[in-house]
Amino acid sequence: MNNVLIAPSILSADFSRMGEEVKSLEVCGADMIHADVMDGVFVPNITFGIKMVEDLRKCTALPIDAHLMIVHPEKYVERFAKAGADFVTVHYEACKEDTAKTLKLIKSCGAKAGVVINPDTPWERAAEFLPLCDMILVMSVYPGFGGQKYIPSADEKLLNLSRLIGEKKPQTLLEIDGGVTEENAPRLIGLGANVIVAGSAVFKAADRKKAIAALRG
Ligand code: DX5
Ligand code: ZN
Repeated sequence: MNNVLIAPSILSADFSRMGEEVKSLEVCGADMIHADVMDGVFVPNITFGIKMVEDLRKCTALPIDAHLMIVHPEKYVERFAKAGADFVTVHYEACKEDTAKTLKLIKSCGAKAGVVINPDTPWERAAEFLPLCDMILVMSVYPGFGGQKYIPSADEKLLNLSRLIGEKKPQTLLEIDGGVTEENAPRLIGLGANVIVAGSAVFKAADRKKAIAALRG
């Protein structure tokens, strides 16, 4: 058993039955709930916000990983942390020169902080913030939708970031999000990813328990 955490993305869940969906993930062996927050501005899709995290907090003991795909995340991170998100991750592309400030704000609210980089952003942009990060999230699809194909350039980012994390701050988690399947998960884990986000691979599977187990590599 490796210490890889599986974080199913509830973007692929049935939103009308979210509580049951999260319970099912818990029973099926998920380690974390990945909550994709989209504002229709930073990404061309809209999902849910603070109230969803607040309500899910009451129905699961699993850590909630709030992936904020929104503009001006600094305006909302405090409320996500107070709503019960254990991890709050913000995009470098949304924060730019305010990235460090936003990560510090997340931590000051008692949540774990993470920076996210899009497929076109070099890994070095995330590396700069390693001292302030509990987690770094590498996007392996353009954010906005589930069910897309893994973009292979994420491989090298994982490798470089996992080497750096190993040297400088080994307790930092390295998360991969987008197009992860049971076929490519073992390779991504080999490259150093230790938090595996999966939407379609879990929710489209006939057997969620098997699907989650298979993602562990
Ligand atoms: C995409 C989201 C992902 C998405 C992953 O913007 O950040 O978390 O749900 O979905 P799959 O695993 O289907 O690529
Ligand atoms: Zn996500």
